[in-house]
Amino acid sequence: MNEWLTIKEHIKTWVKEVGKEQLIRMEQPFQMKSKSSDIDLVTEVDEWSEQYLMDKIKSQYPHHAIMTEESGWHEGQAEYEWVIDPIDGTVNFAHRFPFFCISIGVKFQGETVIGVVYVPKIDEMYEAIKGSGATLNGKPITVSRTERLNQAVVATGFPYDRATDPNNNVNHFNAIITKVGGIRRTGSAAIDLCQVAAGRFDGYWELKLQEWDICAGLLIIEEANGKTFSYKQEKGYQVLVGNPAVFNELSGILNWE
Ligand code: IPD
Ligand code: CA
Ligand code: CA
Repeated sequence: MNEWLTIKEHIKTWVKEVGKEQLIRMEQPFQMKSKSSDIDLVTEVDEWSEQYLMDKIKSQYPHHAIMTEESGWHEGQAEYEWVIDPIDGTVNFAHRFPFFCISIGVKFQGETVIGVVYVPKIDEMYEAIKGSGATLNGKPITVSRTERLNQAVVATGFPYDRATDPNNNVNHFNAIITKVGGIRRTGSAAIDLCQVAAGRFDGYWELKLQEWDICAGLLIIEEANGKTFSYKQEKGYQVLVGNPAVFNELSGILNWE
């Protein structure tokens, strides 16, 4: 446990350093290219951020395994595995809409035990250690108490292959939009998850998410007493989270469980 605390403090220092640099680089010209489709982007700042974090981890914890969005799997011998999204919300970043974050989860013996999500523009640090609760900038957070769906504000997102694969969440969006108090699409799955943990959003669902999008955020919600469901499919994870009441309502509509 003490070791987890030490790791978390390292992560917080490193994500603050990376976030500060991301905000500077966002204002300057940067290179970018597309990945799985024309709308799935990676910028040189994603790559720089990932390399910066990997260098720090490798110097401090040389035996830990690392999984990152941009460079994949880096083998290690220890029981620890880091799961990193260097910029979650790359499309926002590329458009200089400053709503993006760094998301880092750490697994011990296959189970997520540390989650940190840092949103540089608003200087918000979400963190959790398994069994110890979740905090936002050091203060405990918990999911909302909203019970009725027609008063709930929920978030979602749409996959990068939405133009070519009809399993693109539009059907679920149509089923839910008329039943909720409000719906939001922030452009960052990790930020969406943290908004549910902080009680600002009452629920969130999305499909085709990858482990680096959700590893930290799911732990943060669980530690904030939220309910979570994640199920790995061929193209990624179906994810549903919320306060328990809104989770159950959304689950009834999505029919995922
Ligand atoms: C994306 C964001 C977005 C979600 C996409 C993710 P990226 O991650 O989290 O909100 O809808 O499914 O891939 O590409 O910005 O790291
Ligand atoms: Ca992501
Ligand atoms: Ca990313």
